[in-house]
Amino acid sequence: MSSGTTVVILAAGKGTRMKSELPKTLHEVCGRSMLGWVLDAAADLDPDRIVVVVGHGAEQVEAAARAALPDRDLAFVLQEPQNGTGHALQVAAPAIGDCERVVVTYGDMPLLSGASLEALVAAQKEAGADDAVSLLTALVDDPFGYGRVIRASDDAFERIVEQKDASDVQRLVNEVNLGVYCFPRGHLDGDLGRLTNDNAQGEYYITDLVGMAASDGRSVAPLLLDDEREAQGVNDLAQLADVRWQLQMRILEEHMANGVRIMDPSTTFIDHGVTIGRGTEVLPCTVIRSGVTIGEDCEVGPFSHLRVGAALDDRAAVGNFTEMKNSRLGPGSKAKHLSYLGDAEIGAKANVGAGTIFANYDGKAKHRSVVGDGAFLGSGTIVVAPNEVPSGAMTGAGAVLTRSASMGAGETWAGLPARKLQPKD
Ligand code: UD1
Ligand code: CA
Repeated sequence: MSSGTTVVILAAGKGTRMKSELPKTLHEVCGRSMLGWVLDAAADLDPDRIVVVVGHGAEQVEAAARAALPDRDLAFVLQEPQNGTGHALQVAAPAIGDCERVVVTYGDMPLLSGASLEALVAAQKEAGADDAVSLLTALVDDPFGYGRVIRASDDAFERIVEQKDASDVQRLVNEVNLGVYCFPRGHLDGDLGRLTNDNAQGEYYITDLVGMAASDGRSVAPLLLDDEREAQGVNDLAQLADVRWQLQMRILEEHMANGVRIMDPSTTFIDHGVTIGRGTEVLPCTVIRSGVTIGEDCEVGPFSHLRVGAALDDRAAVGNFTEMKNSRLGPGSKAKHLSYLGDAEIGAKANVGAGTIFANYDGKAKHRSVVGDGAFLGSGTIVVAPNEVPSGAMTGAGAVLTRSASMGAGETWAGLPARKLQPKD
């Protein structure tokens, strides 16, 4: 069933203060772009369509958005030049289509949650009339730069006044507009046609739409955000780092709520989209990338790096300076010290000795190696891929298993190149 909601994401701004060629909303936070986080929150509304207003780096932004939400109806409109937030919505309007309400948000506010957008829509619906407008506001210590929410003496919403247009008295107001609105579709085209750029910046302000609704006697419902940190926008790399930290804590708190022990959140880096089973302990200075899966009762770290395609089955352990990529460590298996597991499939209860390297790259292509259940790789083993260490097989310290090695189950190989040791009888 249709939710009746279309979301418009404003993302045309250049992001000059990021000092980067990358379009602002494509900067990454915990394994996905800022825009990816915003799209994810928008998707919580189950919108009929999401319209993204793009400008700088339009093609790149469109490709990233389509990759982030392949199953959604996404539309992209180019705003060139950028004459303000109201102009952005004017440009978006033809792509909005039929719906009941239009939620507008920004591509550079990755902390704003789906729950807050849902509350915004609920506030618009609760305002009674189907021509009501709702908007998110926050009380902040330092309102500088924001549009101020101006209320009448009876506290009713009157309008929003931008920093540059505000009087000294208006600048004292610390209830600010966050730039996130829910408009009724029915009035939008008409109201957009009434916008003027008669203001200090010579721009078309989206905020004037809200003032228009109020002065026309339609109801306007300002909704104060519970947690004003969600409103943090990103304009420079310091704000990006701040936002990263907050999203990181959200991710870590979710894992901890699921029974994952995280000894030191301040040195633990876990991207979004990581699965970790209950009873697992993540030790300090560890980096775990998107898509990694970790079973129950595992141990990870300290100083481990789990990259794309790494998987740990239950009770597996990776320790100090072990890096994994495209590799599986089977149940109860261990790689505790100074190892690189690249393109390796390791069975159950295997031991990967200190300093073991899976040499998976020959300069042209990557190759896989397989290690069977109960195998034991001695310290400093190099497995040149593709290769196989069968179940119960062993290598001596410093063994170099070249591609021509052909180990049998339960055999022991040692040396450089490694050769089979004859069992003593
Ligand atoms: C706007 C609001 C202000 C609010 C503030 C919250 C207006 C007129 N003012 O300020 O009340 O407190 O947001 O952050 O709306 N954008 C476009 N095209 C444009 C202009 C902007 O896509 O032509 C996008 C930007 O990429 C950005 C967002 O809209 O994501 C906000 O733009 P920005 O210039 O930061 O907002 P302000 O106009 O300063
Ligand atoms: Ca501006």
